[in-house]
Amino acid sequence: MSSPEPDRYAVAGNPVAHSRSPAIHAQFAAQTGEALSYERLLCPLDDFAATVQAFAASGARGCNITVPFKFEAHALAARLSERARLAGAVNTLRFDCDSDGRPAWLGDNTDGAGLVRDIEHNAARSLAGQTVLLLGAGGASAGVLGSLIAARPAAITVANRSVDKAAALVAQHADWAEQHGVALQARSLQDCGQGFHILINGTSASLAGAAVPVADGVLAPGALALDMMYGPAAAPFLAWAAAQGAEGRDGLGMLVEQAAEAFALWRGKRPDTGPVLQALRQELASKP
Ligand code: ATR
Repeated sequence: MSSPEPDRYAVAGNPVAHSRSPAIHAQFAAQTGEALSYERLLCPLDDFAATVQAFAASGARGCNITVPFKFEAHALAARLSERARLAGAVNTLRFDCDSDGRPAWLGDNTDGAGLVRDIEHNAARSLAGQTVLLLGAGGASAGVLGSLIAARPAAITVANRSVDKAAALVAQHADWAEQHGVALQARSLQDCGQGFHILINGTSASLAGAAVPVADGVLAPGALALDMMYGPAAAPFLAWAAAQGAEGRDGLGMLVEQAAEAFALWRGKRPDTGPVLQALRQELASKP
């Protein structure tokens, strides 16, 4: 008897050629014994919805969404997790159907949970009671702020080049922050405060080769400074963190943890991320 076709998943984006997600999910599948395939789905910039709908109609079970389609994916979901609703963006779709067999997709956002798990589990830093500086107020920061708040730090400052965008993001999360007893405020990059225990860089400054957009001295001694980027893009940030006496961390752990969270949503099983992160680090070190 032939074995059934494996369930199909993909990462949908533009570009997707660089994506590490297929390799990560292949390792999760091998580890958990789940029969699935995971491919890259390159979506034309003006045809995201139709491309993903065709993928779902071909029998696929779900997909991850990457740049620049996380907001469009949010609009395609029939149901949203609380964290996706707060983020206003979706990075994971599960192609559920309603009782009549019509598509009723679930939209989730696992980026924030992945970031928090990387900080608390992999970097072994509890967020509870700490002061956090989140740099940037674009899609990357919006995707993680709700989960950061849920980890109950004492305070989170969102600092951005355009302060009005930081203020809008803070306003969107004000009730959530109050419910969790977190002091949440928006500031400019020049006047973001001092002595933070944890800094998270959600700006795309390093992609443009720009320096870390805050002054020296914003960190407390021994702080954790994490960039959501990884590979060569994170190198200037990590050098800056080292010069500040901080523990520098790139976004590779977050990448693996958000994937594990998506895998758990799809398959109901949580993979062991440690060996996958280690293998990815080794691979990047040998050919970045
Ligand atoms: P993403 O989805 O990756 O977050 P985005 O939504 O375009 O991309 O947001 C990019 C973020 O990086 C923004 O917060 C942006 O600041 P503005 O809102 O003021 O544009 C920030 N950013 C980009 N380049 C920057 C730079 N050179 N210095 C400081 N902040 C920068």
